[in-house]
Amino acid sequence: MTFHIPVMVQQVLENLITRKMGIYVDCTVGGGGHAAKIIEKIYPEGCLIGIDQDIEALEFARDKLRDYQDRIVLVKANFVDLEMILLYLGITRISGIFFDLGISSHQVDTATRGFSFSRDSLLDMRMDLSSELNAYYIVNHYPERELAELFSKYGEERFSNSLAKLITQERKKKPIETTEQLAKLISGFYARHKKGKWRIQPATKVFQALRIEVNRELSVLTETMLQAIKLTKTNGRIGVLSYHSLEDRIVKNIFREWEKTETINKYGYGLKRLFKKPIYPAEEEVRQNPRARSAKMRFAEKIELKEVSENERDSFIRGK
Ligand SMILES: C[S@@+](CC[C@H](N)C(=O)[O-])C[C@H]1O[C@@H](n2cnc3c(N)ncnc32)[C@H](O)[C@@H]1O
Repeated sequence: MTFHIPVMVQQVLENLITRKMGIYVDCTVGGGGHAAKIIEKIYPEGCLIGIDQDIEALEFARDKLRDYQDRIVLVKANFVDLEMILLYLGITRISGIFFDLGISSHQVDTATRGFSFSRDSLLDMRMDLSSELNAYYIVNHYPERELAELFSKYGEERFSNSLAKLITQERKKKPIETTEQLAKLISGFYARHKKGKWRIQPATKVFQALRIEVNRELSVLTETMLQAIKLTKTNGRIGVLSYHSLEDRIVKNIFREWEKTETINKYGYGLKRLFKKPIYPAEEEVRQNPRARSAKMRFAEKIELKEVSENERDSFIRGK
Protein backbone atom coordinates (compact mmCIF):
# COMPACT_ATOMS: atom_id res chain seq x y z
CA MET A 1 0.00 0.00 0.00
CA THR A 2 1.26 3.53 -0.79
CA PHE A 3 0.61 5.52 2.34
CA HIS A 4 2.11 8.78 1.13
CA ILE A 5 4.73 9.71 -1.47
CA PRO A 6 7.29 11.97 0.23
CA VAL A 7 7.97 15.27 -1.53
CA MET A 8 11.42 16.73 -2.45
CA VAL A 9 13.25 14.02 -0.53
CA GLN A 10 16.67 14.77 -1.98
CA GLN A 11 16.39 18.48 -1.18
CA VAL A 12 15.26 17.67 2.38
CA LEU A 13 18.28 15.45 2.99
CA GLU A 14 20.79 17.88 1.47
CA ASN A 15 19.58 20.80 3.54
CA LEU A 16 18.62 19.14 6.82
CA ILE A 17 21.55 16.87 7.57
CA THR A 18 24.75 18.64 8.51
CA ARG A 19 26.37 15.80 10.47
CA LYS A 20 25.72 12.10 10.85
CA MET A 21 26.17 12.04 14.58
CA GLY A 22 23.23 14.22 15.46
CA ILE A 23 19.72 14.11 16.84
CA TYR A 24 17.14 14.98 14.22
CA VAL A 25 13.40 15.51 14.63
CA ASP A 26 10.76 14.75 12.02
CA CYS A 27 7.71 16.55 13.42
CA THR A 28 5.29 15.07 10.88
CA VAL A 29 6.42 11.49 10.43
CA GLY A 30 3.24 10.41 8.54
CA GLY A 31 3.94 7.23 6.60
CA GLY A 32 7.65 7.52 7.39
CA GLY A 33 8.71 8.44 3.85
CA HIS A 34 11.07 11.27 4.78
CA ALA A 35 11.92 9.64 8.09
CA ALA A 36 13.16 6.48 6.36
CA LYS A 37 15.50 8.48 4.13
CA ILE A 38 16.77 10.60 7.02
CA ILE A 39 17.54 7.64 9.28
CA GLU A 40 19.13 5.72 6.38
CA LYS A 41 21.53 8.62 5.97
CA ILE A 42 22.49 9.08 9.63
CA TYR A 43 22.35 5.46 10.85
CA PRO A 44 23.93 4.16 13.07
CA GLU A 45 25.66 7.28 14.43
CA GLY A 46 22.67 9.59 14.54
CA CYS A 47 19.17 9.22 15.82
CA LEU A 48 15.72 10.37 14.84
CA ILE A 49 12.71 11.43 16.89
CA GLY A 50 9.52 11.05 14.85
CA ILE A 51 6.31 12.77 15.93
CA ASP A 52 2.77 12.46 14.59
CA GLN A 53 -0.62 13.05 16.15
CA ASP A 54 -2.26 10.41 13.97
CA ILE A 55 -2.07 6.96 15.53
CA GLU A 56 -2.71 5.24 12.18
CA ALA A 57 0.27 7.05 10.65
CA LEU A 58 2.54 6.14 13.54
CA GLU A 59 1.60 2.46 13.37
CA PHE A 60 2.41 2.39 9.67
CA ALA A 61 5.68 4.28 10.19
CA ARG A 62 6.71 2.02 13.07
CA ASP A 63 6.54 -0.97 10.78
CA LYS A 64 8.28 0.77 7.89
CA LEU A 65 11.14 1.95 10.12
CA ARG A 66 11.55 -1.29 12.11
CA ASP A 67 15.09 -1.98 10.81
CA TYR A 68 16.29 1.20 12.49
CA GLN A 69 14.30 0.91 15.70
CA ASP A 70 17.42 1.09 17.92
CA ARG A 71 18.01 4.67 16.69
CA ILE A 72 14.42 5.90 16.37
CA VAL A 73 11.89 7.10 18.92
CA LEU A 74 8.32 7.52 17.65
CA VAL A 75 5.96 9.68 19.67
CA LYS A 76 2.23 10.08 19.28
CA ALA A 77 1.74 13.74 20.04
CA ASN A 78 1.01 17.13 18.61
CA PHE A 79 4.30 18.72 17.59
CA VAL A 80 3.34 21.77 19.63
CA ASP A 81 4.58 19.69 22.61
CA LEU A 82 8.04 19.46 21.04
CA GLU A 83 9.91 21.01 23.93
CA MET A 84 8.18 18.80 26.49
CA ILE A 85 8.77 15.67 24.40
CA LEU A 86 12.48 16.40 24.11
CA LEU A 87 12.70 17.27 27.79
CA TYR A 88 11.07 13.94 28.62
CA LEU A 89 13.64 12.17 26.43
CA GLY A 90 16.46 14.09 28.13
CA ILE A 91 17.38 15.99 24.94
CA THR A 92 18.24 19.68 25.20
CA ARG A 93 19.60 20.44 21.73
CA ILE A 94 18.97 19.01 18.27
CA SER A 95 20.91 19.08 15.00
CA GLY A 96 17.96 19.54 12.70
CA ILE A 97 14.19 19.62 12.60
CA PHE A 98 11.79 19.08 9.74
CA PHE A 99 8.06 19.71 9.17
CA ASP A 100 6.07 18.33 6.23
CA LEU A 101 2.83 20.13 6.98
CA GLY A 102 -0.77 19.26 6.34
CA ILE A 103 -2.27 15.84 5.82
CA SER A 104 -0.98 12.66 4.23
CA SER A 105 -2.41 10.99 1.14
CA HIS A 106 -3.59 8.21 3.44
CA GLN A 107 -5.63 10.68 5.49
CA VAL A 108 -7.14 12.28 2.36
CA ASP A 109 -7.88 8.94 0.74
CA THR A 110 -9.40 7.27 3.80
CA ALA A 111 -13.08 8.11 3.34
CA THR A 112 -13.94 7.79 7.04
CA ARG A 113 -11.53 10.58 8.03
CA GLY A 114 -13.79 13.14 6.35
CA PHE A 115 -11.06 15.34 4.85
CA SER A 116 -12.12 15.10 1.23
CA PHE A 117 -15.17 16.41 -0.57
CA SER A 118 -14.72 13.73 -3.21
CA ARG A 119 -15.26 10.90 -0.70
CA ASP A 120 -18.53 10.88 1.17
CA SER A 121 -18.23 10.43 4.92
CA LEU A 122 -19.19 12.03 8.19
CA LEU A 123 -17.62 15.48 8.59
CA ASP A 124 -14.62 14.78 10.78
CA MET A 125 -11.18 16.14 9.65
CA ARG A 126 -9.36 15.37 12.91
CA MET A 127 -5.72 14.40 12.44
CA ASP A 128 -5.72 13.31 16.06
CA LEU A 129 -8.58 10.85 16.43
CA SER A 130 -8.64 11.38 20.19
CA SER A 131 -9.30 15.12 20.03
CA GLU A 132 -12.79 16.47 20.68
CA LEU A 133 -13.41 19.15 18.09
CA ASN A 134 -14.41 17.95 14.63
CA ALA A 135 -15.76 19.54 11.46
CA TYR A 136 -19.32 18.37 12.20
CA TYR A 137 -19.38 20.39 15.42
CA ILE A 138 -18.07 23.53 13.74
CA VAL A 139 -20.47 23.35 10.78
CA ASN A 140 -23.50 22.65 12.95
CA HIS A 141 -22.78 24.72 16.06
CA TYR A 142 -20.53 27.72 15.36
CA PRO A 143 -22.49 30.99 15.11
CA GLU A 144 -22.86 32.40 11.60
CA ARG A 145 -20.43 35.27 12.26
CA GLU A 146 -17.71 32.88 13.44
CA LEU A 147 -18.20 30.63 10.44
CA ALA A 148 -17.90 33.62 8.10
CA GLU A 149 -14.72 34.75 9.84
CA LEU A 150 -13.27 31.27 9.65
CA PHE A 151 -13.98 30.84 5.94
CA SER A 152 -12.49 34.23 5.21
CA LYS A 153 -9.41 33.95 7.43
CA TYR A 154 -8.43 30.32 6.91
CA GLY A 155 -9.98 29.68 3.49
CA GLU A 156 -9.54 33.12 1.90
CA GLU A 157 -13.06 32.44 0.62
CA ARG A 158 -14.60 35.46 -1.20
CA PHE A 159 -18.16 34.45 -0.39
CA SER A 160 -17.55 33.71 3.29
CA ASN A 161 -20.55 35.70 4.58
CA SER A 162 -23.01 34.22 2.08
CA LEU A 163 -21.75 30.67 2.63
CA ALA A 164 -21.93 31.04 6.42
CA LYS A 165 -25.51 32.31 6.06
CA LEU A 166 -26.45 29.46 3.75
CA ILE A 167 -24.99 26.85 6.14
CA THR A 168 -26.76 28.26 9.18
CA GLN A 169 -30.07 28.35 7.27
CA GLU A 170 -29.61 24.82 6.01
CA ARG A 171 -28.70 23.34 9.39
CA LYS A 172 -31.96 24.68 10.88
CA LYS A 173 -33.78 22.27 8.54
CA LYS A 174 -31.53 19.30 9.28
CA PRO A 175 -27.96 18.81 10.50
CA ILE A 176 -25.20 18.92 7.86
CA GLU A 177 -23.61 15.58 8.58
CA THR A 178 -21.53 14.54 5.61
CA THR A 179 -18.79 15.85 3.34
CA GLU A 180 -21.05 15.34 0.33
CA GLN A 181 -23.92 17.32 1.89
CA LEU A 182 -21.62 20.25 2.61
CA ALA A 183 -19.83 20.11 -0.76
CA LYS A 184 -23.18 20.02 -2.63
CA LEU A 185 -24.49 22.99 -0.69
CA ILE A 186 -21.40 25.03 -1.61
CA SER A 187 -21.36 23.90 -5.27
CA GLY A 188 -25.05 24.79 -5.52
CA PHE A 189 -24.31 28.28 -4.23
CA TYR A 190 -21.47 28.75 -6.71
CA ALA A 191 -23.58 27.44 -9.58
CA ARG A 192 -26.33 29.95 -8.74
CA HIS A 193 -24.09 32.94 -8.13
CA LYS A 194 -21.03 32.67 -10.32
CA LYS A 195 -20.86 32.83 -14.03
CA GLY A 196 -18.56 30.55 -16.02
CA LYS A 197 -16.35 27.77 -14.72
CA TRP A 198 -14.30 27.74 -11.52
CA ARG A 199 -10.73 26.54 -11.48
CA ILE A 200 -10.94 24.53 -8.28
CA GLN A 201 -13.77 22.56 -6.70
CA PRO A 202 -15.93 25.25 -5.06
CA ALA A 203 -15.80 23.57 -1.63
CA THR A 204 -11.97 23.57 -1.52
CA LYS A 205 -11.58 26.77 0.49
CA VAL A 206 -14.28 26.00 3.05
CA PHE A 207 -12.85 22.51 3.55
CA GLN A 208 -9.37 24.00 4.03
CA ALA A 209 -10.72 26.46 6.59
CA LEU A 210 -12.52 23.73 8.54
CA ARG A 211 -9.44 21.51 8.56
CA ILE A 212 -7.26 24.34 9.86
CA GLU A 213 -9.74 25.15 12.62
CA VAL A 214 -10.27 21.51 13.67
CA ASN A 215 -6.53 20.91 14.00
CA ARG A 216 -5.47 24.45 15.09
CA GLU A 217 -2.93 24.17 12.32
CA LEU A 218 -1.68 27.75 12.15
CA SER A 219 -1.35 28.48 15.85
CA VAL A 220 0.52 25.25 16.58
CA LEU A 221 2.88 25.94 13.69
CA THR A 222 3.79 29.39 15.01
CA GLU A 223 4.31 28.13 18.55
CA THR A 224 6.38 25.15 17.46
CA MET A 225 8.60 27.15 15.12
CA LEU A 226 9.66 29.30 18.08
CA GLN A 227 10.45 26.21 20.12
CA ALA A 228 12.39 24.78 17.17
CA ILE A 229 14.54 27.92 16.89
CA LYS A 230 15.33 27.71 20.56
CA LEU A 231 16.14 23.99 20.60
CA THR A 232 18.25 23.77 17.46
CA LYS A 233 22.03 23.82 17.85
CA THR A 234 24.27 26.42 16.25
CA ASN A 235 24.49 25.61 12.53
CA GLY A 236 21.58 23.17 12.89
CA ARG A 237 18.84 23.37 10.31
CA ILE A 238 15.08 24.00 10.36
CA GLY A 239 13.15 22.96 7.28
CA VAL A 240 9.46 23.36 6.47
CA LEU A 241 7.49 21.98 3.55
CA SER A 242 4.12 23.69 3.23
CA TYR A 243 1.19 23.29 0.89
CA HIS A 244 -0.80 26.49 1.16
CA SER A 245 -0.03 30.17 1.38
CA LEU A 246 -1.23 30.65 4.97
CA GLU A 247 1.31 28.16 6.32
CA ASP A 248 4.07 29.38 4.06
CA ARG A 249 3.46 33.00 5.11
CA ILE A 250 3.94 32.05 8.76
CA VAL A 251 7.23 30.31 8.02
CA LYS A 252 8.47 33.11 5.76
CA ASN A 253 7.67 35.79 8.35
CA ILE A 254 9.22 33.89 11.25
CA PHE A 255 12.40 33.21 9.26
CA ARG A 256 12.61 36.89 8.26
CA GLU A 257 11.99 38.14 11.79
CA TRP A 258 14.66 35.88 13.25
CA GLU A 259 17.18 36.99 10.66
CA LYS A 260 16.99 40.63 11.76
CA THR A 261 20.07 41.93 13.53
CA GLU A 262 17.97 43.46 16.32
CA THR A 263 16.25 40.11 17.00
CA ILE A 264 19.58 38.27 17.03
CA ASN A 265 21.11 40.89 19.32
CA LYS A 266 18.11 40.77 21.62
CA TYR A 267 18.06 36.99 22.11
CA GLY A 268 21.67 36.17 21.30
CA TYR A 269 20.57 33.81 18.56
CA GLY A 270 18.57 33.76 15.39
CA LEU A 271 18.44 32.34 11.89
CA LYS A 272 20.02 32.68 8.51
CA ARG A 273 17.86 31.60 5.60
CA LEU A 274 19.58 29.09 3.31
CA PHE A 275 17.59 30.49 0.36
CA LYS A 276 15.75 33.78 0.10
CA LYS A 277 13.05 32.19 -2.06
CA PRO A 278 11.31 28.87 -1.38
CA ILE A 279 12.35 25.70 -3.20
CA TYR A 280 9.74 24.06 -5.45
CA PRO A 281 9.55 20.48 -6.70
CA ALA A 282 10.82 19.86 -10.22
CA GLU A 283 8.28 19.43 -13.02
CA GLU A 284 9.14 15.76 -13.29
CA GLU A 285 8.36 15.21 -9.60
CA VAL A 286 4.98 16.95 -9.96
CA ARG A 287 4.23 14.85 -13.05
CA GLN A 288 4.90 11.67 -11.07
CA ASN A 289 3.23 12.91 -7.89
CA PRO A 290 0.57 15.55 -8.64
CA ARG A 291 0.05 16.12 -4.90
CA ALA A 292 3.48 17.75 -4.83
CA ARG A 293 2.29 20.59 -7.08
CA SER A 294 1.52 23.10 -4.33
CA ALA A 295 4.62 22.29 -2.22
CA LYS A 296 7.07 24.99 -1.16
CA MET A 297 10.06 24.39 1.06
CA ARG A 298 12.05 26.82 3.18
CA PHE A 299 15.20 26.16 5.20
CA ALA A 300 17.10 28.22 7.73
CA GLU A 301 20.22 27.69 9.81
CA LYS A 302 20.51 28.58 13.49
CA ILE A 303 23.14 31.14 14.37
CA GLU A 304 24.24 32.11 17.85
CA LEU A 305 26.16 35.15 19.06
CA LYS A 306 27.14 33.53 22.31
CA GLU A 307 25.98 30.69 24.48
CA VAL A 308 22.93 32.12 26.25
CA SER A 309 21.79 30.61 29.50
CA GLU A 310 18.84 28.23 29.64
CA ASN A 311 17.00 30.77 31.84
CA GLU A 312 17.27 33.45 29.19
CA ARG A 313 15.94 31.05 26.55
CA ASP A 314 13.07 29.96 28.77
CA SER A 315 11.99 33.49 29.55
CA PHE A 316 11.89 34.21 25.81
CA ILE A 317 9.63 31.23 25.09
CA ARG A 318 7.29 32.20 27.92
CA GLY A 319 7.28 35.74 26.54
CA LYS A 320 8.61 37.33 29.72
C1 LIG B 1 2.16 15.48 4.75
S1 LIG B 1 2.04 14.28 6.00
C2 LIG B 1 3.71 13.81 6.28
C3 LIG B 1 4.18 12.73 5.37
C4 LIG B 1 5.56 12.22 5.67
N1 LIG B 1 6.57 13.24 5.53
C5 LIG B 1 5.91 11.02 4.81
O1 LIG B 1 6.89 11.11 4.07
O2 LIG B 1 5.20 10.03 4.87
C6 LIG B 1 1.72 15.21 7.42
C7 LIG B 1 1.59 14.41 8.69
O3 LIG B 1 1.77 15.31 9.76
C8 LIG B 1 0.86 15.05 10.77
N2 LIG B 1 0.65 16.32 11.46
C9 LIG B 1 0.18 17.47 10.94
N3 LIG B 1 0.14 18.41 11.89
C10 LIG B 1 0.61 17.85 13.03
C11 LIG B 1 0.82 18.32 14.35
N4 LIG B 1 0.51 19.56 14.72
N5 LIG B 1 1.36 17.46 15.26
C12 LIG B 1 1.67 16.20 14.91
N6 LIG B 1 1.47 15.69 13.69
C13 LIG B 1 0.96 16.51 12.75
C14 LIG B 1 -0.37 14.51 10.07
O4 LIG B 1 -1.11 13.68 10.94
C15 LIG B 1 0.25 13.74 8.90
O5 LIG B 1 0.45 12.39 9.22
